[in-house]
Amino acid sequence: MKLLVTGGAGYIGSVVVGHLLADGHEVTVLDDLSTGHRDAVAPGVEFAELPIAEAAAVLTPAFDGVLHFAAKSLVGESVAQPQRYWANNVGGTLALLEAMRAAGVGRLVFSSSAAVYGEPDRQPIKETAPTRPTNPYGATKLAVDLMISSYAAAHGLAATSLRYFNVAGSWRGLGERHRTETHLIPLALRAALGQGEGLTLYGEDYPTRDGTCVRDYIHVADLASAHLLALSASAPGHRVYNLGNGDGFTVREVLAAIEGVTGRPVPAALGPRRPGDPAALVASSERIRDELGWRPTRTTLREMITDAWSAMPTAEHA
Ligand code: UFG
Repeated sequence: MKLLVTGGAGYIGSVVVGHLLADGHEVTVLDDLSTGHRDAVAPGVEFAELPIAEAAAVLTPAFDGVLHFAAKSLVGESVAQPQRYWANNVGGTLALLEAMRAAGVGRLVFSSSAAVYGEPDRQPIKETAPTRPTNPYGATKLAVDLMISSYAAAHGLAATSLRYFNVAGSWRGLGERHRTETHLIPLALRAALGQGEGLTLYGEDYPTRDGTCVRDYIHVADLASAHLLALSASAPGHRVYNLGNGDGFTVREVLAAIEGVTGRPVPAALGPRRPGDPAALVASSERIRDELGWRPTRTTLREMITDAWSAMPTAEHA
């Protein structure tokens, strides 16, 4: 298929582009490089340095579909600067959907998020759980899911929203490289290297087995394979799938696994809770397993952390 990948210069988008190319698809990447990296786009892939609001400039009837990753995705920033999230994530996606409609491109895979569920009553979280986002980032992802549903109903869009839990690991050297890093695993790896001021552990008074938050980590390559399945299974309508391993690990368990993989201590100072952090987020991915036959293959923390560690610039290991 001929595909447009928005956000294809970012961490997850670039890994999915690699998988699409390996599967024989023709890919154009659209990315404004606000957080992505030009060198994460494989050589030979057509590249448009544009915001999603300008997708109409590249989207022609020759395209078969769009994979939409481009978004602002920092929870804390979304609380302080919500306008950026509504403008980019919601306004930008509306422009993208209109460009798709104008060009007659009817297939979409969208990067949604576990953040749409907020503080869930029950674990593991199913797609039928109430959606009560606790921050503007999650609210904008939910708004886009609703927008897509209405486009599918009215205009016959064939769409899939994938609600990611905590993505980790790397694939062929493509790992997490955020200029502003807030995620646990890359920050803890940097702390293990003695970079920065060490890690702050955000609270250990949660109602979990060791008092730290529980999260469901999914390998970025397993996430990528779900996108390919969603793309080939697409039919008119809007399907929603959670994507995680169904197994939760505490922050302390992640830090212990990092010490095991790197052979280095992870200096961590106990701090207060981070506002908006739910105690536990564990996915039920039964639906995508049953309907699309998705099977994650790299489910251990050790595999994810080993791959995240190996993708850090080699100079940093010295
Ligand atoms: N944590 C720390 N110290 C840090 C960073 C994180 O203790 O320096 C803890 C957090 O409090 C949390 C866990 O590590 O308990 C994981 O935090 P991340 O920031 O790595 O990931 P989140 O679970 O907060 O975020 C993920 C996705 C978001 C999504 C969110 C849904 O990355 O995009 O789940 O709640 F919005």
